[in-house]
Amino acid sequence: METITLNNGMKMPILGYGVYLVDPAVTERCVLDAISVGYRSLDTAQYYENEAMVASAVRKSGVPRDEFFITSKLCQTHPSYAQAKENVKGSLRRMKLDYLDLMLIHWPMGNDSDIWQAFEDLVKEGYLRAIGVSNFYPETYEALVKNASVIPVLNQIETHVFYQQRPMVALMGKYGTAVESWGPLAEGMNGIFTHPVLTEVGAAHGKTAAQVALRFLIQQNIIVIPKSVHKERMIQNMDVFDFSLSDDEMAAVRALDTGHNLDGWPADALKYDPAQW
Ligand SMILES: NC(=O)c1ccc[n+]([C@@H]2O[C@H](COP(=O)([O-])OP(=O)(O)OC[C@H]3O[C@@H](n4cnc5c(N)ncnc54)[C@H](OP(=O)(O)O)[C@@H]3O)[C@@H](O)[C@H]2O)c1
Repeated sequence: METITLNNGMKMPILGYGVYLVDPAVTERCVLDAISVGYRSLDTAQYYENEAMVASAVRKSGVPRDEFFITSKLCQTHPSYAQAKENVKGSLRRMKLDYLDLMLIHWPMGNDSDIWQAFEDLVKEGYLRAIGVSNFYPETYEALVKNASVIPVLNQIETHVFYQQRPMVALMGKYGTAVESWGPLAEGMNGIFTHPVLTEVGAAHGKTAAQVALRFLIQQNIIVIPKSVHKERMIQNMDVFDFSLSDDEMAAVRALDTGHNLDGWPADALKYDPAQW
């Protein structure tokens, strides 16, 4: 599996397995399937209510813990420094893990500097190996890093062929923060799996539209964490390292960008408005 080197020197698989909306009742089975076909980076969150099942699959797999890169995300509005620390330890207790490879602030929570200070200290104390953010846009991202000693290793944001986030990718590049795509398959929307451009590009390589959509992101060093509850799709989504898109093919896919997220909001509308959260 190809890796990306994060700004703290850690290596992270550029492709992982996400478990948003995977029913807790089937999460352990799905994660065991994902591990059996080769996934080692796993993306869960407190909000998904399936952290414990992800971790139990890791244990049952028999694969050593240190071969995994496990991410979770804090979800608590306006926690104090002490509450944020306790919150992360809650994830570790639920998962019966000594440490997480990566903890993210799931979205701007209101007093992100306090959370970030807690995260920085949890790294020093050995509970977290890396820390980052999710759904942070220029205003909230820059407010956070202004007072931070540690720059987020990555920002997990909605990114896919229909919403390519080029300004955010450029901004994160300036800070040395990697971009991780959530919804790399556009959550299955906009007819992505039968899209004529993606299908045609794929046909030239013997690949599916889904594989082209993932390859397009990986080729820009964007980390992807596609979700599927189907083993054959898990295999298909991993099988994206034996072909490359040409410059013309990249340009054809680049032209699919709508500048709007899946809810129809333009990028600027996503700036943090505390009243909305
Ligand atoms: N930070 C955040 O706010 C945030 C928000 C959303 C997601 N995420 C993370 O990002 C991960 C991925 O995003 P996502 O789950 O929203 O959407 P996604 O991975 O873009 O798309 C998942 C959808 O595509 C289908 N699918 C997957 N592979 C396929 C294939 N090869 N062919 C046809 N259909 C396929 C899945 O159906 P089946 O399962 O039925 O195969 C599912 O309906 C999440 O699981 C989560 O870890 C984070």
